[in-house]
Amino acid sequence: MYLTREEEKMLSGEYGEWVQKSIKLLIAIGEINKAEKFVEIKRAHLSGVSYKTVGDPILELLESIAEKGTKVRVFTTLNPAGIDTTHWKEFGFPNEFAEKQLRIINAFKKMGVNTTLTCTPYLTINRPKFGEPIAFAESSAVIYSNSIIGARTNRHGNLDALAAAITGRVPEMGLILTENRKATDLVKIDFTPKTDEEFNLLGLYIGDKLESNAIPALEFPKNIEFKEFHLRGLGAALAASGGVPMFHVIGYTPEAKDRKEAFQEDTPQEVFQISRDDLIEYKREIIDNFDKPDLIAIGCPHASLEEIEMITELVKGKRVKAGVKFWIFTSKYMLEQAKKKGYYRILEEAGVKIITDTCMVVAPLEAMGIKKIVSNSGKAVFYIPKLSKNIIRANIKELAEIIDKSME
Ligand code: F3S
Repeated sequence: MYLTREEEKMLSGEYGEWVQKSIKLLIAIGEINKAEKFVEIKRAHLSGVSYKTVGDPILELLESIAEKGTKVRVFTTLNPAGIDTTHWKEFGFPNEFAEKQLRIINAFKKMGVNTTLTCTPYLTINRPKFGEPIAFAESSAVIYSNSIIGARTNRHGNLDALAAAITGRVPEMGLILTENRKATDLVKIDFTPKTDEEFNLLGLYIGDKLESNAIPALEFPKNIEFKEFHLRGLGAALAASGGVPMFHVIGYTPEAKDRKEAFQEDTPQEVFQISRDDLIEYKREIIDNFDKPDLIAIGCPHASLEEIEMITELVKGKRVKAGVKFWIFTSKYMLEQAKKKGYYRILEEAGVKIITDTCMVVAPLEAMGIKKIVSNSGKAVFYIPKLSKNIIRANIKELAEIIDKSME
């Protein structure tokens, strides 16, 4: 790879051990992928924060990187951790887990990372621009930024995203390049999905059918009105079940005003069609039937203000039934907005809690006695059983139905 003078200095060790290690890692990734040079970035987003998913080896590594005085060069935000950092005792998170979790967050803080602890940085303080090269980890943030915003990021892992933040650059490869952002498959949806559940199931179903790294172009019936959180949920589910880094919605997303723009003209189009019956059948296959959940978990990806407002409207004047917890997972940023708008008070009165900084997948809920979760998120029901070693069962339902069944 061609290196600038600044990159040569990083490689020579002039800026310290971890800058040198970071650029070496990125050069190795770039060379495998035939990148010719680096591109500079202005922002990054890191995953691998929860102690549940990273454990002691990464905790120790992060502390040693931070102790050496290593700093990120660009504005960098952080994915959810395993606890609500303010109210972890109140919510019943285990002490030892919380202590180790706080050490991880502190190590990132020492490196100059903004400890936002949310997977929707693009809804808060780290929203990239159209066409901007960035280094985002967290598959749901990658697919959203590429598809809905039109920013450019590859699917980074924990360590290469950190290396990009430390060096302020990424190899020029993959989805950074225009030619790699074209659709590979045409997916025709011959019905109009209406609920959060349908959009999420659609994401899981399409992801299941595609090769990893495919870029589907979705063609919906004309005149469909999308809600932001419907496409956010669909994208997160697609990335979970299919490893998909980007999708287009023909006539809607910024790089697909029509079929011609979505596809490279000489690319053969793999086409498949989806009916509502396909989705109903798919749901029958994946559904795990249980009656009463212990926990209703909303906010995967983290809930936006629009979703919190919608839930507030639905729960106003009702009360969560005894024996069920109802938690909305989001960022502290969104919690503050919900307080300002008066939603928080109404939710509290209804017995609905807002929990921040963490999420239903990366929190150690299995150690907190939770066994059955119902959510409107395809990504959550895909990962919860796996990451809890099948201690927790999870089911998907639409929000209105969840509220109808769990509140009186
Ligand atoms: Fe976010 Fe956790 Fe879901 S990080 S996308 S809420 S799995």
